[in-house]
Amino acid sequence: MSILEVRALTKSFGSLVALDRVDLKLAEGEILGIIGPNGAGKSTLFNLIAGLERPSAGAVYYRGAAISGLTTDAVCRLGITKTFQIPQLFPRMSVLENVFVAGLYGKGVSLGPARYQAETWLEFVGLADKAAAAAETLSLPERRRLDLARVLATDARVLLLDENMAGLNQREVAASVALLRQVRDRGRSLMVIEHIMRAIADLADRVLVLNYGEKIAEGRPRDVMRDPAVIKAYLGEAYT
Ligand SMILES: Nc1ncnc2c1ncn2[C@@H]1O[C@H](COP(=O)(O)OP(=O)(O)OP(=O)(O)O)[C@@H](O)[C@H]1O
Ligand SMILES: [Mg+2]
Repeated sequence: MSILEVRALTKSFGSLVALDRVDLKLAEGEILGIIGPNGAGKSTLFNLIAGLERPSAGAVYYRGAAISGLTTDAVCRLGITKTFQIPQLFPRMSVLENVFVAGLYGKGVSLGPARYQAETWLEFVGLADKAAAAAETLSLPERRRLDLARVLATDARVLLLDENMAGLNQREVAASVALLRQVRDRGRSLMVIEHIMRAIADLADRVLVLNYGEKIAEGRPRDVMRDPAVIKAYLGEAYT
């Protein structure tokens, strides 16, 4: 069974149809890439799944149960977390405290275990030596790692990552791809919105392409990236 399924999911903002009857399935342990031009509806898709927006039509299922209409807190406690769904990063608080707070927000674990888990996740993302530093002192790649540690601390089973690699250099992107593979190996399922095609090609098992709210292609990265409709709508523009 899919861990997450979306059926005919639709979102209109006035006369604009930001997401138009999109279907998708996410298998357990899968990494699904979401690509498409600016304004294609990628972030809207995540907002609907995470409970930040209500669908105009269609439904979202988690382990077979309908979850559309639940609040973002309820969705997070079920095990689906989007990076910016957790309360904002606290710039003056330490890196460790930021992860710790995210852990309390997720499954509501008690203080002792939350602290231990926060330390474990910081180590996992390679930020253990920054635990005591104020979050605001981190570099961009470190901030991204902290975001990931915070999502993991909520004990999410499905992670929705929206352009988590934006602004990283090639070496940092490669490190991020390797880290996300390890996240998957720890039993997580991932949906990843990304404009960096090399990262998507290296990371995703499957890719779904949105254009003007519609799904225009879905399949293995190498096949999707050769699809004339995808090149016309997106890649041609991205590669020029
Ligand atoms: N709250 C909102 N109110 C009105 N229009 C919105 C709202 N959120 C998104 N839109 C519109 O819906 C469309 C899809 O936006 P969305 O942010 O999902 O695109 P995206 O694929 O994430 O783009 P990008 O690659 O630039 O992040 C856009 O035309 C956007 O302007
Ligand atoms: Mg977006």
